Parts: sequence; structure tokens; C-alpha cells
Amino acid sequence: MFRSTLLPLALLAVGAWAQTSTDCNPLNSTCPSDPALGTTFDSPFNKSTTEFNPTFWNITAGTDLITFGDDGASMPLTKKGDTVTVKSNFYIFWGTVEIIMKAAAGTGIISTVILLSDDLDEIDWEIMGGNSSTVENNYYGWGNTSQFNSEYPALDGAQSDYHNYTINWTKDKIQWILNNNTVREASYDSPGNYPQTPARVQFGVWCGGCSESEGTRQWAGGDTNFDQAPFTMYVKSIRITDGTTNSSSYSYGDNTGSYESIKVEEGESEAYKAINKLSTTQKVEQKWSGLSTGAKIGIAVGVLGGFAIALIAFAFYFVNQRKKGRAEAAAHEKEWEAQNNELMEYRSMMAKGNFAVSRQSVMMDVKAMEGHRF
Ligand SMILES: *[C@@H]1O[C@H](CO)[C@@H](O)[C@H](O)[C@H]1NC(C)=O
Ligand SMILES: *[C@@H]1O[C@H](CO)[C@@H](O)[C@H](O)[C@H]1NC(C)=O
Ligand SMILES: *[C@@H]1O[C@H](CO)[C@@H](O)[C@H](O)[C@H]1NC(C)=O
Ligand SMILES: *[C@@H]1O[C@H](CO)[C@@H](O)[C@H](O)[C@H]1NC(C)=O
Ligand SMILES: *[C@@H]1O[C@H](CO)[C@@H](O)[C@H](O)[C@H]1NC(C)=O
Ligand SMILES: *[C@@H]1O[C@H](CO)[C@@H](O)[C@H](O)[C@H]1NC(C)=O
Ligand SMILES: *[C@@H]1O[C@H](CO)[C@@H](O)[C@H](O)[C@H]1NC(C)=O
Ligand SMILES: *[C@@H]1O[C@H](CO)[C@@H](O)[C@H](O)[C@H]1NC(C)=O
Ligand SMILES: *[C@@H]1O[C@H](CO)[C@@H](O)[C@H](O)[C@H]1NC(C)=O
Repeated sequence: MFRSTLLPLALLAVGAWAQTSTDCNPLNSTCPSDPALGTTFDSPFNKSTTEFNPTFWNITAGTDLITFGDDGASMPLTKKGDTVTVKSNFYIFWGTVEIIMKAAAGTGIISTVILLSDDLDEIDWEIMGGNSSTVENNYYGWGNTSQFNSEYPALDGAQSDYHNYTINWTKDKIQWILNNNTVREASYDSPGNYPQTPARVQFGVWCGGCSESEGTRQWAGGDTNFDQAPFTMYVKSIRITDGTTNSSSYSYGDNTGSYESIKVEEGESEAYKAINKLSTTQKVEQKWSGLSTGAKIGIAVGVLGGFAIALIAFAFYFVNQRKKGRAEAAAHEKEWEAQNNELMEYRSMMAKGNFAVSRQSVMMDVKAMEGHRF
């Protein structure tokens, strides 16, 4: 009875987050294809983060509110009208989304992470700022919001601690996993339309308790009082794995919205390329900063040593040539040998150093110099 009055009103809440809309709906239009993720995107947010990397994210509301620090990405609502929405530029076609977050406190404030496709398939986690004993999840297919199916698994302190909210989405089932416990499972055959088209990942925070609609305010837990602001959502990290790999884009083959109509373009996605570019640089940086000071000095000496030895080799060679040029080869045979021995000794001293790489490059430099005819 309580439910049946709340039910139609609650539907309004879905549309209230202005971002659950679509630019082009493939159910009745021909739309551009969707860039794929095609791999795993894994990102912590901390004080060395400067922004949501625009290669991967589009902030469609609240750019100026977002900061980064030890708490992760901070997304505060400070006054009526504030909203923060972060959308992935890439899409996943099945897959796993894991977000480690602390929900915003505050009656009527909703922290959310959702999967949303162009034809409005949707899979949600929604955390009410005024309810510290449960969280909410639901899903919709093809924008059919009359399949009201919210569930409220228990969770103590969503607003005081970080928790792991995971969605695991396959062709057969959707799992909502809370701190490693599967708290809900919906199968393809469950009543209602099943989300089955490529989806963006969106997260953010909005004020349901500010809505014009009485029903939305009720659903959100009540009217929001901004005297208690800021209401801040914190995100420590997000990890997204596309269920389809080696994919560069997804497109709709027809207007059915069926997964069977989705065409997968194979290859490396833009996201894949960007991720691999980033991680190569990061790997080198991490390797370098992970070395002991001794090793760093060793490498520096090795590299400089290689350069110095090349110069010495050149000098020896040059001097020797000049002497030869004086047609006193025999007289200088011994001297040359001595010089050469000296060089060899110096070289082997270097070679006894601990650094295989620099040792090799020293030998190569010397060889190159010796082999070169001036
Ligand atoms: C396509 O469908 C969407 C969602 O039902 C609707 O809002 C939009 O007006 C439709 N567009 C056309 C061209 O029919
Ligand atoms: C902080 O975030 C950056 C990426 O923004 C990441 O490379 C780095 O590993 C993170 N640091 C920690 C301690 O997690
Ligand atoms: C970001 O999203 C907005 C709203 O949907 C859109 O107009 C804009 O083109 C998007 N920007 C990028 C870089 O995709
Ligand atoms: C939290 O949500 C649950 C499920 O809707 C509800 O039973 C409970 O009364 C709510 N608690 C508060 C404090 O609103
Ligand atoms: C997601 O579901 C698939 C298929 O059931 C399973 O193999 C995988 O381990 C699940 N992932 C997580 C993170 O639970
Ligand atoms: C979050 O939960 C998922 C599902 O249980 C798990 O695969 C993942 O490792 C967890 N993440 C962290 C950081 O514990
Ligand atoms: C969740 O599972 C992941 C992967 O198995 C593990 O690293 C993490 O510690 C688990 N978290 C909790 C709270 O059990
Ligand atoms: C929308 O969902 C409701 C409830 O599951 C169902 O009765 C109805 O037929 C669906 N409408 C469409 C157009 O699929
Ligand atoms: C990835 O896609 C490219 C382009 O179609 C294809 O040549 C390659 O064989 C694929 N690789 C794998 C591992 O499927």
C-alpha cells in the first residue's frame, strides 16, 4: 500500500537526474557508433590527480566543484542547483564496474553510479544521503521506467566509510556486489526489460530533495536543507572492465535494442591506446623511483662511463692514427699496444661494474668508435 502510492511517484526520480537522457536513441534513429573501452580502465584518485582525464571522462555538470586529495575525488554540493555528473566517453558491452566511494550525507542527496546506454538501458547504485542503514539498486531496459524494481540491501554507514560498489553485468545476469557480497542478482529472464546494449559509466551526486516534484523529494528521503552543506561524495578509485575485448566501437544494427543487433568493430580502441600510452610512462617512472639511490647512481655512472669511454676510445684512435701517419708504425707498435692494454683494462674495469645494460652499451659505443673510419 505504501509502495503502490510511492511507486508511480518514484518514477519521476529517474528522470530527475538530468543526465539519464540520450542524445540519439537507436530505438528510433540511426546513431553514430559508440567508442568502446575494449579493455580494463583502472584509476585511483588522490592528491596527485589533477583532473578527471578528459580522454576518458566528460564532466557534464559541476566541473568547478570537483577537487582531488587524500580522500579521493571530492564532489561537494554546496547550494541548491549544484549537481556533479561524470560520464565516461567510452562504452562497455557487458562487463564489470567497481567504484570505491563514500556517499554524500544529507537528506535528499543522492550519490550514484550507473551504467547507461544510448537506448536507456540502465543499471544503478543509488545511495540516499539521509539513510545510513540501506543503499538502493535497480535497473531498467530501453527506458521503460515502469519496471520499478528497486531493492534496498542493508549497509551501515554508506556516508561515513568507503565501500566497494560493484556491478557485474553479463548477457545472462546482473550482480550487484557490495563489499564482495552479492546482494542482488537479476537474470535475463527476470520480469521487465533486461539491459543489453553498450553502456557508458556515469557517477555523481545530485539533490533529489530539491526537486519540484513531491514524489521525487519523498523518494529521495525528504527535503534538503543546504544550511548543512556541503554534501560531499568521495571517490577513491574506479575500475571498469569491458566484457568485450579487442573492440574499438559498438553500433546498433537495427532498432530492436537487442544485444544480438550490436555490431562490434574489432581493434584497439582510443581508450585502449591512451591507457597503454599512460602505463608505459608510468611503468618507467615507477621502475626508476623504485630503485635504491645506489642503483640510480650506478646507472648514471654507467651511462656517463659509457660516454666517457667512447670519447677515450676516439682519442686513443685519433692519436694512434696521427702517429701512424708519421710512418713510425714499428716504433710505436709497443706504445699502441700499451695504450690498447690500458684501454682494455679501463674497459674491463667498467665491465666489472654491476650494470649489465650500461656494460653492454659501453662495449657497443667502443666498438662503434673502433669500427668507424674517419
Ligand atoms: C525516440 O524515442 C525517444 C525515447 O522514447 C523519444 O524521446 C524521442 O522523441 C523519439 N524520437 C523520435 C524521432 O521518434
Ligand atoms: C595516485 O593517482 C595516480 C593517478 O592519478 C596514480 O598514478 C598513483 O599511483 C596514485 N597513488 C597512490 C598512492 O595510489
Ligand atoms: C560531453 O557531454 C556533453 C553533453 O552530453 C556533450 O554536449 C559534449 O559534446 C560532450 N563532450 C565530449 C568531449 O564528448
Ligand atoms: C532507509 O531505507 C529503508 C528502505 O527503503 C527504509 O525501510 C528505512 O526506513 C530508511 N531509513 C531512513 C532513516 O530513512
Ligand atoms: C562476473 O560474472 C562472471 C560470470 O558469471 C564471473 O566469471 C566473474 O567472476 C564475475 N566477476 C566478479 C567481479 O564477480
Ligand atoms: C571490489 O569488489 C569486487 C567484487 O567482489 C572485487 O572483484 C574487487 O577486487 C573489489 N575491489 C577492491 C579494491 O577490493
Ligand atoms: C574483496 O575481494 C578482493 C579480491 O579478492 C580482495 O582483495 C579484498 O580484500 C576483498 N575485500 C573485502 C572487504 O573483503
Ligand atoms: C515496461 O515494463 C512494464 C513492467 O515490466 C511492462 O508491463 C511493459 O510491457 C513494458 N513496456 C514496454 C514498452 O516494454
Ligand atoms: C583484434 O582485432 C584486430 C583487428 O580486427 C585483429 O586483426 C586481431 O586479430 C584481433 N586480436 C585478437 C586477439 O582477437
